[in-house]
Amino acid sequence: MSHRTCLAVILAAGEGTRMKSAMTKVLHPVGGLPMVAHAVKAAAAAGGSDVALVVGRDADKVEAAARPFARDVTVHVQTVRLGTGHAVLAARSAIAKGYDDLLVMFGDTPLVDSAALTLAREKLAGGAEVVVMGFKTVDPTGYGRLIEKDGQLAAIREHKDASDEERKINFCNGGLMAIAGRDALSMLDSITNKNAKGEYYLTDVVEIARARGKKVVAMEVEAASVLGVNTRVELAEVEALFQAKLRREMMLAGVSMIAPETVWFSWDTQIGAETLIEPNVVFGPGVKVAGNVTIHAFCHLEGASVAAGAHIGPFARLRPGAEMGEKSKAGNFVEIKQAKIGAGAKVNHLTYIGDAIVGAAANIGAGTITCNYDGYNKHLTEIGAGAFIGSNSALVAPVKIGDGALIAAGSVITQSVPADAVGFARARQANKLGMAGHLNARNKAIKDAKKKA
Ligand code: UD1
Ligand code: MG
Repeated sequence: MSHRTCLAVILAAGEGTRMKSAMTKVLHPVGGLPMVAHAVKAAAAAGGSDVALVVGRDADKVEAAARPFARDVTVHVQTVRLGTGHAVLAARSAIAKGYDDLLVMFGDTPLVDSAALTLAREKLAGGAEVVVMGFKTVDPTGYGRLIEKDGQLAAIREHKDASDEERKINFCNGGLMAIAGRDALSMLDSITNKNAKGEYYLTDVVEIARARGKKVVAMEVEAASVLGVNTRVELAEVEALFQAKLRREMMLAGVSMIAPETVWFSWDTQIGAETLIEPNVVFGPGVKVAGNVTIHAFCHLEGASVAAGAHIGPFARLRPGAEMGEKSKAGNFVEIKQAKIGAGAKVNHLTYIGDAIVGAAANIGAGTITCNYDGYNKHLTEIGAGAFIGSNSALVAPVKIGDGALIAAGSVITQSVPADAVGFARARQANKLGMAGHLNARNKAIKDAKKKA
């Protein structure tokens, strides 16, 4: 099938008023990725990496969301919404380039299954001119009904236009279609708006194609895969289904989760086999975790990588640019940002490491802070291999701690420390012998005097 060219026309001109949002509906994310990008990704996986986006507003932002997943993107603004048939024709210039296959999809249907799109294209290759993806439901109210006759699809009847008898049909139009490109424009141009809603229905291509003697088929897909999002309630429902799918795929690929329903992934989270994820962990976009890693409970990771054998958390936060080396550790209440932590290095408690390079097997004591920001610029802290940073130290960047160096606890380090040296940067302690009894007696006398008064 690879020799057949394919254009995906993705309709995204809906106002999305029910989202009650300043942002265009299709930009709302599912698994950290805008809904429209999910549609583009699925289209591309089915060979439709030339994409025509039909948008109403925020054209630049919708295009930017689609761009990384498509070979070619054109944007077509539909200024007045006159129906799905009218919307597809907004992309006339792209369709007119003459593709073998057209995939018509909705930008607010993010769970679309690329395997089903591929199958629909195969049906076109096999001689069908129109392929409609339908689903079965117990409550078909509001959907277009698929009317089949003699093994072919005869018509799609929109709910408002359907007879009582037709309304009993529970095989519904999911909204996604594959149309042979050859006569697509001529068929789309034949759609009229003579119906209950006074709209140009894309679904009319079914009867138009049949009247021209063409083969039209319906194929059943999972209802979840054609779920459209209209409200934030539906957005959360779709998110839940997406998360359930990712968790299942991860577990089947060898990742262990004690309470999978409490672990949240992004669309691009990568995790190796034999990794254990304890409850309540959130993976923002751009996280790569190797195998044999343990992510303890209550961690938040985003834009970070974790090498094999590392232990993260509990209660750790890995921010963008955090790179945890093999068998390294980031313990409780540790935040790491834009920093490489060397193999076997330990950052075990109550620490902020930002804009830093930490050498292999270094030990960062509790309460260490890299002071990386002067209010205007970020500066680098370098900590050598095997260095030991005493607890509660502040490393004021830019600063370099050499290999094997030792920093005394409670130091504020403002100058670099050579390899194997001890950096000591706090007031020296003085012990005043016998002074405690003297001070206690004085303080007690003050308290007693107050009581009497
Ligand atoms: C459509 C189908 C219906 C199907 C249902 C599945 C038609 C006529 N009806 O109905 O058979 O069961 O989807 O959910 O196609 N859009 C535009 N511009 C427009 C109109 C729509 O971009 O002028 C976009 C919308 O943003 C939306 C999609 O097309 O993403 C579908 O439009 P919508 O109005 O939701 O169609 P339905 O009435 O739900
Ligand atoms: Mg709809």
